[in-house]
Amino acid sequence: MTTTAPGHSAADARPADLAVEVRQVSKVFGDDRGHRVQALKDVSFQVRRSEIVALTGRSGCGKTTLLRIIMGLEHPSSGTVVVDGDVVHGPGLNRGIVFQNAELLPWRTALGNVEFGLEARGVPKEERRAAAEGAIELVGLGHAAHRRPHELSGGMRQRVGIARALAIDPAVLLMDEPFSALDAQTRENMQGELLEIHARTGKTIIFVSHDIDESVLLADRVVTLVPDPGRVHAELDTAFGRGGSLDDRRTSAEFARRRHELLQLVHGRQIQPQEDGKSA
Ligand SMILES: Nc1ncnc2c1ncn2[C@@H]1O[C@H](COP(=O)(O)OP(=O)(O)OP(=O)(O)O)[C@@H](O)[C@H]1O
Ligand SMILES: [Mg+2]
Repeated sequence: MTTTAPGHSAADARPADLAVEVRQVSKVFGDDRGHRVQALKDVSFQVRRSEIVALTGRSGCGKTTLLRIIMGLEHPSSGTVVVDGDVVHGPGLNRGIVFQNAELLPWRTALGNVEFGLEARGVPKEERRAAAEGAIELVGLGHAAHRRPHELSGGMRQRVGIARALAIDPAVLLMDEPFSALDAQTRENMQGELLEIHARTGKTIIFVSHDIDESVLLADRVVTLVPDPGRVHAELDTAFGRGGSLDDRRTSAEFARRRHELLQLVHGRQIQPQEDGKSA
């Protein structure tokens, strides 16, 4: 098992290989009544270029907060995030985010929603139309580009959300439980599409997932967080080669081994080989 102490993963990566560095990030939220919640404490990890990293851990351990800080939608209380060598101070064109629920504008078509992110960034009209059409094609929605959100299925809406993030051609794609609201079949299709998009674009991807199988299936590395306060518990190398269908990957011995290792890590105990792990 390749586990490393928190904050020391990818220590062998040269700086030029690094897409994202999360350095000693802490976040304290205060509420109206003067209560303080420490959502994150001294979180550090690194993501290499073109790597797919899954963030996993119990509800409330700070996964969404961490993603929002990397995106620049939230400021850390202390610590820094560096993307492509630059310290993050706010949202930028090198990062795109997919929220858990696509949050589309109901009066705009799928294509119009994808264009919206480009408009907000001041991209000229013809350029943004071409970029939006390319992104809609990439997620397999070319035939539905002119439908409005209420005319799309949940999976299609989620794909529009992914296209919207891809349209700005970000080096780093952040996804917060992108498939959790989907039915099993759509979810599998989307997982396959994500791997295809990754194969075609080589983007760095950080996604949040509660699902052990999904994390192992898609990610090269899984970072597990624990709550109160949210901190990195462990990192596990889950890469076992690219290519092949999702079904091939899912039924491979290597997948079973990685999954077993991750379950052990998450539960902090040995899993007996005869257990099927469904209790996870
Ligand atoms: N804007 C906010 N104001 C106050 N507290 C917040 C805010 N956002 C998050 N928190 C708190 O920070 C902690 C981490 O929240 P976060 O949403 O990041 O967790 P999560 O790991 O994404 O959980 P889940 O798996 O349920 O989505 C929680 O205790 C939450 O209540
Ligand atoms: Mg969350």
